[in-house]
Amino acid sequence: MLPQTLLLALSALFTAAAADTPQDFTGLGEIRTLYIWPDHPDLGCLTSAGQWTTNETLCGSFTTQWTSNLTFYLSATATGSCGIDGATFRCGDPDIFGTPGGTGGPIPGHDILRYGQYGIMAADADDAPPAPQDPPLDIHFYTGSEKGKYVFLGWKHLDDDEDNQ
Ligand SMILES: *[C@@H]1O[C@H](CO)[C@@H](O)[C@H](O)[C@H]1NC(C)=O
Ligand SMILES: *[C@@H]1O[C@H](CO)[C@@H](O)[C@H](O)[C@H]1NC(C)=O
Repeated sequence: MLPQTLLLALSALFTAAAADTPQDFTGLGEIRTLYIWPDHPDLGCLTSAGQWTTNETLCGSFTTQWTSNLTFYLSATATGSCGIDGATFRCGDPDIFGTPGGTGGPIPGHDILRYGQYGIMAADADDAPPAPQDPPLDIHFYTGSEKGKYVFLGWKHLDDDEDNQ
């Protein structure tokens, strides 16, 4: 599929998303990287620095502070505030403090982290996601030129089993 077409198709999905009561991005959780294509297989998680890894021992834990039904501030337990720095997702950098995230989107029954209409993330490495033994990678808004897999950022509750699956 052409990148332009993909971007338009996914933007339409975001626009159509209902403003449901939040169910993900509450309490304590991990941020899971979910493949954008159907069935959305789990392709790893984000570290406390906000980087993409498939080494499960490096997954960070995160909390949110909701500011409306759909928007929140996001923090990593170990490093502090998370947000978008330019187009790159980062945690623990004071310059990005206060960048709110939002939910809604294309995975039925689940929220994804998004910034406005942007919710598709990618890394520059040709073979992203990284192998478990490889260093975590920076993750940024998809531009259409990345050769690795594209992902949505989903939530895995760590503090209860209301939504574990
Ligand atoms: C948003 O939250 C308020 C309460 O704070 C509630 O009355 C309203 O129905 C919610 N809106 C949606 C779309 O869920
Ligand atoms: C995963 O990370 C841990 C902690 O840094 C490290 O000890 C382990 O070797 C890593 N696993 C792989 C497969 O590299």
